[in-house]
Amino acid sequence: MASVLLGVTGGIAAYKACELARLLVRAGHEVTPVLSPGAERFVAAQTFEALARRPQPRDLYPHLVAADLLVIAPLSANTLAKLAHGLADNLLTQLALAYRGPALVAPAMNARMWEHPATRANAAVLRERGVELIGPEEGELAEGEWGAGRMSEPAAIAVRCAALLGGSAALRGRSVVVTAGGTREPLDTVRYLGNRSSGRMGVAVAVEARRRGADVTLLAANLGVAVPAGLDVVATPTAAELEREALARASADVIVMAAAVADYRPARPLAAKRKKDASAWAVELEPTVDILAELGRRRRDGQVLVGFAADEGEAGLASAREKRRRKRVDLLVFNDVSRPDIGFDAEDNEVTLIRPDGELRIAKASKSLCAVAILDQIEALLEGG
Ligand code: CTP
Repeated sequence: MASVLLGVTGGIAAYKACELARLLVRAGHEVTPVLSPGAERFVAAQTFEALARRPQPRDLYPHLVAADLLVIAPLSANTLAKLAHGLADNLLTQLALAYRGPALVAPAMNARMWEHPATRANAAVLRERGVELIGPEEGELAEGEWGAGRMSEPAAIAVRCAALLGGSAALRGRSVVVTAGGTREPLDTVRYLGNRSSGRMGVAVAVEARRRGADVTLLAANLGVAVPAGLDVVATPTAAELEREALARASADVIVMAAAVADYRPARPLAAKRKKDASAWAVELEPTVDILAELGRRRRDGQVLVGFAADEGEAGLASAREKRRRKRVDLLVFNDVSRPDIGFDAEDNEVTLIRPDGELRIAKASKSLCAVAILDQIEALLEGG
């Protein structure tokens, strides 16, 4: 069962959204109706509440934003423009701005409004952001005119919803542990040795795993990015804490070690702030436990273990292949850190996914899209493929 947010905006087609609500409920989904103020001039919220068997929310509850799918049908020209520009003046537009999962919209409006360059540009902006548009269809419009502006049929929209929610069910209900961020190793009570990892890639993996129905625990090491609702977050600021929390969950179905864990830490961190003086400060570093290698030693049948490697060029790729074997990892995600536009603390990434039986090179893409490719591989491994 998936959770679907059904947005309805103002327009004569709003009555057809009742049929869509009914189809989604019948498909076994948990449907939350969210009507714009304009929609309530055409249909009553109570109609949707009765069909969905749940009330329309009044506030932007965190769990709403973590839904599996957002469908807006019909989508008026006005709300389309608001979505394109990121306006948040009612619950539906606020929700659309806070939500990060797949979205499907079914525009419906007067044909001349649909053809206006402003509307075309707004629709193009949504498409570029990954929102799927269905329709509008050509036909007789409410005003007696003929043209493209009719909302697609509820059954057609329901089919697209099923496709967007579908795919493999391999992760549904599975326990997934994702580590993200970079550890900080204390030198004294205020200073530390750290690294540049923001945690963006790990958080994207955790969010995508959650979207696919997994029970996700995020072991968070000093994240520089926000974590959406729906994840169980445990703070693990140092390598030692990350080691303790990861090994306590060593039997999870899937473990993704995306965190940049310090390889060395100060052997004797000072118990108070070191006062500045003229002398040099020599610090002895001791190696930390390689958590991924330890998880590899403890691995159980059927478990999927994923590691990351940051290295440079073809030689780095060759060493990543060797690392995958040595650490007994099923999937190793290789990042080429010789490029400044990808990897550490960047929005985009370009990764090579190394499996025992082959490799997949993912062209430069957002970290969310890289996460989709990584989770596709994890699902295939869970299914034994
Ligand atoms: N890792 C770990 N514990 C450590 C260090 C790293 O679990 N103490 C994990 C990271 O989360 C990552 C992978 O191991 O999944 C990275 O492997 P590592 O051998 O540290 O590779 P690099 O740091 O990329 O390169 P190098 O071979 O130079 O160490």
